[in-house]
Amino acid sequence: MGPVHLRPITENDVKTLIQLFHDTVHSINIKDYSKDQVDAWAPPVNEIPEDAWIDSFRGRHAVLAETECIIVGFADAAEDGYLDRFYVHKDFQGKGIGSLLYRDIESFLMDAGAGRIVTHASITALPFFLSRGFHVEKEQEVERKGVILKNFVLSKQI
Ligand SMILES: CC(C)(COP(=O)(O)OP(=O)(O)OC[C@H]1O[C@@H](n2cnc3c(N)ncnc32)[C@H](O)[C@@H]1OP(=O)(O)O)[C@@H](O)C(=O)NCCC(=O)NCCS
Repeated sequence: MGPVHLRPITENDVKTLIQLFHDTVHSINIKDYSKDQVDAWAPPVNEIPEDAWIDSFRGRHAVLAETECIIVGFADAAEDGYLDRFYVHKDFQGKGIGSLLYRDIESFLMDAGAGRIVTHASITALPFFLSRGFHVEKEQEVERKGVILKNFVLSKQI
């Protein structure tokens, strides 16, 4: 793998990010969730509204990681400290891309004076966040398209 660069997400990236999100959930999160659960979490890409994703990135710190013109991960956070999406490409797991994205998000939120980071982490991402100093506020069950999924509300003082 060549050098990995971070850059802001633009509207033109959103189609690729939706595909990455879908594929990562279906091939990585499937280790911890059932087929029904991943289908509810990440429906077929043509059912994921691009416009809503573009709107949801507006006003956020939204960043992607790229190597050799391949988008290999992305994350977005609000200035109040809420870390929302955080996904690494299914074929680029465990290569430090999540760490790179996380460092960028944390330093942005420190500079923004957020005071703390809050995220709703999957079972899959829990160890990643725990090893970065997050603690579990609560375990919760959320409903997506009539299906229940377990995740964790995590926070970290910064
Ligand atoms: C959670 C996630 C974003 C982490 O991204 P990642 O790029 O795999 O993360 P990293 O490679 O930086 O670190 C992962 C671990 O692999 C280790 N690692 C780093 N380089 C490695 C390498 N070359 N080979 C093997 N392991 C490596 C790291 O030490 C790290 O361990 P740690 O957490 O104990 O520090 C990623 O697994 C993912 O996309 N998960 C599915 C989506 C998801 O659940 N996202 C959360 C939204 S709710």
